[in-house]
Amino acid sequence: MAGRKRIAVFASGFGSNLQALLDFNKKDDLGGDITLVFSNKSKSRALDRARKSNIKAVFLDPAKFDTRDDYDREILKLLKSEKIDLIVLAGYMYLLSSLLVGQFKNKILNIHPALLPSFKGTHGIKDAFDQGVKITGVTVHFVDEKLDHGPIVIQEVLGIGTEDNMQELEEKIHEIEHRIYPRAVRYFCRGELLIEGRKVKILKSRLDRGVR
Ligand code: GRF
Repeated sequence: MAGRKRIAVFASGFGSNLQALLDFNKKDDLGGDITLVFSNKSKSRALDRARKSNIKAVFLDPAKFDTRDDYDREILKLLKSEKIDLIVLAGYMYLLSSLLVGQFKNKILNIHPALLPSFKGTHGIKDAFDQGVKITGVTVHFVDEKLDHGPIVIQEVLGIGTEDNMQELEEKIHEIEHRIYPRAVRYFCRGELLIEGRKVKILKSRLDRGVR
């Protein structure tokens, strides 16, 4: 596969997953580079993290746009001018329009802190904890038009002990996220993911076969 992928990370909050991806790319190789960090929140820590790593950091205020489509049209312009190949959602708390999803079909990844299709939405960790499930975990999936719905790339399971509290559970979930998201992004960048309907096949590493 020709060339390194240009990755845009979308984040609204703390940006620990962005940091995990940046750190991974320093010691290992994602097969691509994060060349843009985008946020709908001016105060997102993710923007600071990007600036610290000399990565273009862009905030666009949704309140300044009449519709979600208008907002995403502006984002699309930015993505085009930055020649972005892959969008990685890392705590991006603003729904993407079908316009943007359509233009980046099978080129948007998301991470969700529960085992989809259970506990969709913004409180996956707490919802699983409150429900009293014995197992939960983390899901990396492609993004389609429906919320937390697209084809699943990786899931890792985590048991919840009766003694576990929310804080411990959150820490364990984040540890898994920071470990598996870079792997999923690398699969994508190396061209190792094959989507067949709802199924995602992870192909044997092309690098292992000497394909660059
Ligand atoms: C993560 O738990 C992720 O699963 C969810 O939002 C959170 C973002 O955390 N989608 P951070 O901003 O990367 O620290």
